[in-house]
Amino acid sequence: MSKHTFDPTVYNDSGNKPISAVLEKELTRRGVIKRGGALAAFTALASLGLTGCNNDDSDTETTSADLTLGFESIAGSKLDAVAVAAGYKAQVLAPWGTPLNDSANAWADDGSNSSEDQLNAVGMHHDGMHFFPLGEGTSEGILCINHEYIDQKAQHPNGATEESAGVRPVEEVRKEINAHGISVVHIKLMDGVWDVVTNSTYNKRFTAATEMDVSGPIAESDLDLLVTKYTTEKGNKNIARGTNNNCGNGHTPWGTYLTCEENWPGYFTRSDSVDNWTDEQKRMGISDGGTRYGWNTPADGSVTGEFSRFDVIPSGANATEDYRNEANGHGYIVEINPYNASEKAIKRTALGRFRHEDCSFGNVEQGKPVVFYSGHDGRFEYIYKFVSEALWDSADANPADRMATGAKYMDKGTLYVARFDENGVGVWLPLTPDSTTKDGQRLGDISGFETLAKVILNTPGAADLLGATPMDRPEWTAVDPKTGAVYVTLTNNTKRDNQDSDTKNDTNAANPRENNQYGHIIRWTEGSEATAFNWEFFLFGSPANSNADTNRSSLNASNELASPDGLVFDDRGILWVQTDNGASEVTENTNDQMLAIIPSQLDQSADGAPVVNNANQDQLKRFFVGPNGCEVTGLAFNNGYTSFFANIQHPANWPYTKNAAEETPADLNVRPRAATVVIMKEEGGEIGV
Ligand code: FEO
Ligand code: CA
Ligand code: CA
Repeated sequence: MSKHTFDPTVYNDSGNKPISAVLEKELTRRGVIKRGGALAAFTALASLGLTGCNNDDSDTETTSADLTLGFESIAGSKLDAVAVAAGYKAQVLAPWGTPLNDSANAWADDGSNSSEDQLNAVGMHHDGMHFFPLGEGTSEGILCINHEYIDQKAQHPNGATEESAGVRPVEEVRKEINAHGISVVHIKLMDGVWDVVTNSTYNKRFTAATEMDVSGPIAESDLDLLVTKYTTEKGNKNIARGTNNNCGNGHTPWGTYLTCEENWPGYFTRSDSVDNWTDEQKRMGISDGGTRYGWNTPADGSVTGEFSRFDVIPSGANATEDYRNEANGHGYIVEINPYNASEKAIKRTALGRFRHEDCSFGNVEQGKPVVFYSGHDGRFEYIYKFVSEALWDSADANPADRMATGAKYMDKGTLYVARFDENGVGVWLPLTPDSTTKDGQRLGDISGFETLAKVILNTPGAADLLGATPMDRPEWTAVDPKTGAVYVTLTNNTKRDNQDSDTKNDTNAANPRENNQYGHIIRWTEGSEATAFNWEFFLFGSPANSNADTNRSSLNASNELASPDGLVFDDRGILWVQTDNGASEVTENTNDQMLAIIPSQLDQSADGAPVVNNANQDQLKRFFVGPNGCEVTGLAFNNGYTSFFANIQHPANWPYTKNAAEETPADLNVRPRAATVVIMKEEGGEIGV
C-alpha cells in the first residue's frame, strides 16, 4: 500500500487550489474516490470541503501496464559508501545525534553528548519510516523514524561501562533509553538538499521512557493488567512507559504513524527462578539472563521505578507496589499523530501482543472493515491480521481528530492468525475465547486464555493452540495498491529441519526449504470470507551460483539477494525489497541492498513455482546498495516520488560527508552513525521509472 499521506489542512486553508494528481491519487488510495474519475473526484472533494476551481483532468494516472523500471540493475558493492543506480545521487539526512531543537548540543564525534542532548536529538539505529507531507508535500514534510536499538560502542566515548560489578551508570543508561524510540522530524528541501528544520513545533522524540496511553482489550479489561507502583501514583492504570525496539512501521488511512515493538522482551527480566514465571512470560521470552543493556541495574533516580521497572519480579505485596505488570505494556502497535506534537502516543492492543515487525493496511473500501497485517519476527512464529469492527467511512480519510479515528478502527475488531495449507489454500483462525483449538477445545476454557484480554496478552500462546503455521521469521508485510495482494518477507530460518521428533520445526507448505539461509517472499489474496485466502510463493532469495533447488527464482549477479526484510509498495505498484543479510554467500558479492519489481506485470505462478522465476527474473532490479556493515531498512517517499528516503542502520565506517556515496577513506575510522539517505535523480524527476 502507498506509504505517503496527504495533509488536508493545507487545502482547507486555500479552498481554491487545483486538484493535483497527487491529491487525487491519495484520495483514491484512501477510498474517498474511485480511480480515474475527475468528476467523482470533484464531488468527493466537495463533500470534504476541499474543492478547487481548476480541476486538472489531463494528468491521468499511470496504469501499472504502462510502468517500466527506468534504471539498469547495478552491480553488487562492498564500500564504506552507498551505491545508487546511474543518474541518481544520495545525501545523508538526520543521522543519529542530529539536534531537533536548541536544547541539544551539536553531535560530538567523541561520544560525549549527554543524555539530555540525546533526548532532544535524532535517535540511533534508524529503521521503519514514513513521510507525512506538509504543503504540497514535494519539498516539505514530517519524517517519522523508528530507532530499533543501539550500538553502545559508538554511543559512549569508550563503549558501555559499569560503575561497579554489573551496575551501569545512570547517565549512560538514560542516554541509551533516549536513543531508542521514534524521532518525529520536520524536514525541508532547500537548494536541492533536504535538511532538518531545527526547533520546528512538529519535532518530537518518543523514547523508551515516554509515557503513552494504552487502549483496546488490555486497557478495557477489569484484570488491571497494567497496574504498577508508577501507574498507581499517576492515578491512571492504563499507561505504559516507553516503546522499545521499534523495527518496521506502518501508517493509517487517516494520516497517523504506526510504530511496531519488535524485540522488546529482551529489555525485561524477572530475577527469580524461571520455575516461578507465568506461561505467558516464558512464551513471550522475557530475558532470564539480565536485560539487553543492563537498564535494570542502576538504583532508581528521581522518577519512580525509572530502572527497577525493567525487572518484573513480584517483589511487593501486590501489583501496586512493584513492576510485575510492566512488560504487559509492551509488545504492541503504537499509533502517533505526527501533525500534533502535544498528543500522546497510544498503544493499540487489539492488534495483538507479540514481537511486531511492521504493520500495513489492506486497500480500504467504503463500507468494508479496515484490515491490518503484522508478522511476528521469530523463528517458527506467525502472521496475523486484524479486522476492524467499524466499517470504513471515506470521510475518515481527513478526520478532525486523527487519534479518535484510530480508536474507531483499531480498538475493536477481530485478530486472526494464519494457517497455510497445501495447494495454496489458507485459513485465518480467529483469536477469541470462543475459538476452537486444534484439539477441539474452546480456547477460553484453557487456563490463561479465559478472556479476550488474556488471549491478547499471550497472543502467540493462543496461536500455538489454534494450529497456526510456524513461519521462517515473518518480517515486513506490504499490500499491492493495484491488486490488493498481500506480501510478506520471511527473512531466513537456519533452524528449519526435517530431523528429530520435533515436527514444529520441520518444513511445511509455505516454508519448504530446510536450513533456509536465504529467505523467501510469499503473497496471498483474501477470499470473500474473512477466514479464507489463497497464497503462493513470490520470490526465493539465493546466491546466484546456487543449484536450481536452492535458486528457485533463478537470480543472477545483478539481483541475487538473501534475507529479504523491509518491503514497501509505492502507489504506482512498484515493490521495493530491502535486505538484512547477516550471513550468507551473497555477502561475498554485495552489501545489503534495495531492489525493485512490479508484481502486477508478472504472471501468476504455476505448480507451486515462485512468481519470480527463470522466465522473468530480469524484472527484479538492484537499485541501491548500502555501505559496509549496514542493513538497509525503512522506505518513504515525498509526494510525486522525486525523493526517496531509505535508512542505513548500523554502518561500520560511514558516513564520511553529507554525500552518502562518498567513500570513507581507507585509513580513516569514523564514529558510525545510522542515518536516513535521500535518493534523488541528478537531473530531478520521478524515481524508479
Ligand atoms: Fe528488526 Fe525483524 O527486524
Ligand atoms: Ca524437526
Ligand atoms: Ca527488520
